[in-house]
Amino acid sequence: MPLTQPMLLVAFLQASNCSNYVASWRHPGTDPGFLTFDYYQQIARTLETGMFHLAFFDDRLAMPSLYGDSPATALQHGIRAVKLDLIPVMTAMLLATRHLGVGGTYSTTYYPPFHIARLFATLDHLSGGRVAWNVVTSLNDAEARNFGRVQHVEHAVRYDQADEFMQVVHGLWQTWDVDALLMDRVQERFADPARVHPLDFQGAWWHAQGTLTVPRCPQGHPVIIQAGQSGRGRDFAARWGELIFVIAPTLAAGQEIYADIKTRALRYGRRPEAIKLAPAAYVVVGETASIARDKLAYVESLARPEDALVLLSEILNYDFARHGLDESLPTAALQAMTGVRSIVDRVLHLSGKAHPTVREFLQHSGRGTLAEMPRFVGTPSQVATQMATWLTGQACDGFVIAATHMPGAYEDFARLVVPELQSRGLARTAYTGSTLRDQLGLPYP
Ligand SMILES: Cc1cc2nc3c(=O)[nH]c(=O)nc-3n(C[C@H](O)[C@H](O)[C@H](O)COP(=O)(O)O)c2cc1C
Repeated sequence: MPLTQPMLLVAFLQASNCSNYVASWRHPGTDPGFLTFDYYQQIARTLETGMFHLAFFDDRLAMPSLYGDSPATALQHGIRAVKLDLIPVMTAMLLATRHLGVGGTYSTTYYPPFHIARLFATLDHLSGGRVAWNVVTSLNDAEARNFGRVQHVEHAVRYDQADEFMQVVHGLWQTWDVDALLMDRVQERFADPARVHPLDFQGAWWHAQGTLTVPRCPQGHPVIIQAGQSGRGRDFAARWGELIFVIAPTLAAGQEIYADIKTRALRYGRRPEAIKLAPAAYVVVGETASIARDKLAYVESLARPEDALVLLSEILNYDFARHGLDESLPTAALQAMTGVRSIVDRVLHLSGKAHPTVREFLQHSGRGTLAEMPRFVGTPSQVATQMATWLTGQACDGFVIAATHMPGAYEDFARLVVPELQSRGLARTAYTGSTLRDQLGLPYP
C-alpha cells in the first residue's frame, strides 16, 4: 500500500525521574536533571531535530503507593516517585522549539472541565497551535485519595462522566466564533458579543453555564489524544480521539485495533482518516547489530522485580504484596483488579491459566521491563524495516517511541534511525504546516 503520509513520530515522555522504563534512572546515560527546565528543553530540541511531530507526556496523579499500602518501595527504588505538573514543563518545551507539538495528560475524573478547557486553549494560543491533550479517566485509588475521595470511580461510570466532560470542553472551546475577536480600536469594538455564545449544558454529571475566557484557539481546539483499550474505552477513543495511542504487543494485535478503531469511528459519523493511530514501542539502535544487542542487554539488566510489582499494583489498582510470588491468584483477587483490565486479560491469555501466579503476572504483563511493548532492535536499517512493516501493514500511522534512558534514546533515534527512515521516504525531511493539527494531517474541526 503506498503511503499517503509519512510516519507520525511521537515521543513517550514522563515528567519524572524515569522514562516508561522505570529502571532508566539507574542507567549512567540518564541525565539526572529532571527537576530543571533545561532537561526538558534539551529533549524538545533533540526531538525537533529528529522531526518528531509531538512530545507527549503521560501522567499519574499519585505516587505508586498501593503496593504494600505504602509509597516506600516506589521511593526506595525510584519507581516513578516523581510526577511534575505538566503545564509548566510543556510550556518550557514550547518555548524552546518552533514546530514541535507538545501534548499532556489531564484526567476527566479529577479536574473540572472549565479548568482543562482554559489551560489547553491558553497554551494553544501562546504556542501558535502546537498543543494536544491526552484525555484519561485515571486508574487507581491512590489518585482518588489525593483528591479527597475514598475510591476511584468505577470504569463504566468514569467513561460516562468523560463523555459528558468532552461535551462540556468542546462546548466551551466553541463559545467564541472564529471571527469573534475584533480588536478594532477605531470603532472601539474589542469583540463582537453576537459572535460569542455562552454555553448552557445540563447533563447527568456536569452542569456548565458560561463563556470560556479564552478566544477560539488556533487549532479550533487542541488535538485530542486518547488511549482507551477496553471495548468502552475504544468507543470513547473513536468518538472523541484524533490521535489514538495503543499498546499492541504484536503486529497482528496492532492490525486488529487499527481496523477496529477506524470501524468504530464510522459509527460516530467520523471519517477514518480523521483519526491517527500510534502504538507505543521501544527502539534500541546501534551502529552495528552487536552494539544494539549489547545496549539492549545492558538496559534489560537494570530492571528489578520490585519495579514490576509496584507498577502492576498501580495500574491494576490492586496490592500485589498480599500474595507470595508463586501463589495462584483467586477469583476474588482477579475481580478486584479494576485498573487496566486488558492487562489481566493478556496475562490470562498468555499464561493459559484461569488463576495465574504473581510470577506469571510479572512474566506475561511485561510490566517494569521492556517486554511491555514491542521492541525494535538493531542497526538503523533493521529498525527502519521493522517499523515499516507496521506502517505498511496497516497496523498504525506512526509510533509513540518510549525511551530506554533519557535523553540518550531520543538522541540515538534522531541521529541513526530518522535519516534511514527519511532516505526510504518513510519520515519527513522538513516541518510543513503551522499547527500541530496540520503536521498530523488532521482536519480543522
Ligand atoms: C500509550 C498510553 C498512554 C497512556 N497514558 C495514560 C496516562 O498518562 N494516565 C492514565 O491515567 N492513563 C493512561 N493510559 C491508560 C489509558 O487512558 C486507558 O485507561 C488504558 O489504556 C485502559 O483502557 P480502558 O480505560 O479502556 O480500560 C495510557 C494508555 C496508553 C496505551
